[in-house]
Amino acid sequence: MINAVERKIEQYVSELDDAHVSSLYKKLPRGKRLRSKLILKIAGSNLKVVKTSATIEMIHAASLLHDDVIDEANTRRGKISINASHGNKSAIMMGDILYSKAFFELNSISSEIAKVVSNSVVQLSLGELADVALSKSFHTNKEAYLRMLYQKTASLMEASAESAAILAGKDRVAYRDYGRKLGMAFQMIDDILDIVSDEKTLGKPALHDFEEGKVTLPYIYLYEALQEEEKQYLVSLHRKKITQNEAKWIKVAMKKYNVIEKASLEAKELIGEAIASMERLGEYDLSKIAKSMIEREF
Ligand code: FPP
Ligand code: MG
Repeated sequence: MINAVERKIEQYVSELDDAHVSSLYKKLPRGKRLRSKLILKIAGSNLKVVKTSATIEMIHAASLLHDDVIDEANTRRGKISINASHGNKSAIMMGDILYSKAFFELNSISSEIAKVVSNSVVQLSLGELADVALSKSFHTNKEAYLRMLYQKTASLMEASAESAAILAGKDRVAYRDYGRKLGMAFQMIDDILDIVSDEKTLGKPALHDFEEGKVTLPYIYLYEALQEEEKQYLVSLHRKKITQNEAKWIKVAMKKYNVIEKASLEAKELIGEAIASMERLGEYDLSKIAKSMIEREF
């Protein structure tokens, strides 16, 4: 059924009747389509479900196009990013086009779902702005970091699960909660993989988050555990190109203070809660999706 979603996105893009847009769309990497998989598992697969999935994937793609401009990223999923290959202006406009077309289509699906999804895009944008602000200087504000994580990543997964529950006539609060926990854990694990995976697996350089200025959970825990002089050294590495020796120092220190385990445990706790809530509802496919998140490598 994921193919039906793919075809629907292609249909929406071709309705724009613009050869340039069609050619840019073909250059976008497909991604895991995690949000669609979630929606299809919750709501089955009728036309409204496929349309909702397609619009949410288009919004997600739009947000990544803009994010790569903001982050000045050269790669996306191991391929050259649109901003790097075609410039910032094309990447921004392509994001705007996908986003606007998605909203146009959402309005004809259901005003209730349009409300849920548009609210999540407000959160998404607030989260991205908070991410930019938090990345400017070194910080150890875990609360602000988690709030940003919720807005930037979990809100669209939360909206996906809630929309699917509305379409299926299921308990929207329970599914919304599941989507939020999954989204939070997803981004926490993403942040951990940036530290523990190699460049080949990630499709982008390792320790890239810290170089970009992003102080993720393991770095917050590391700072808290370090001695005074080491704290200063860690802060001195923030937001700059990290050499091999510096990377080694970060990894050894993280191992010494067990910060990766501490951060993973928090993600696993959320996943555990998501699994339990779905098993209570007899939704074993959804608990499986949550379980597979802990095992993912990229
Ligand atoms: C990736 O974060 C970014 C997001 C998940 C959200 C980005 C949201 C916006 C740009 C605002 C919404 C705009 C529209 C048009 C819908 P990351 O940089 O931490 O992850 P990465 O490693 O995948 O780049
Ligand atoms: Mg980014």
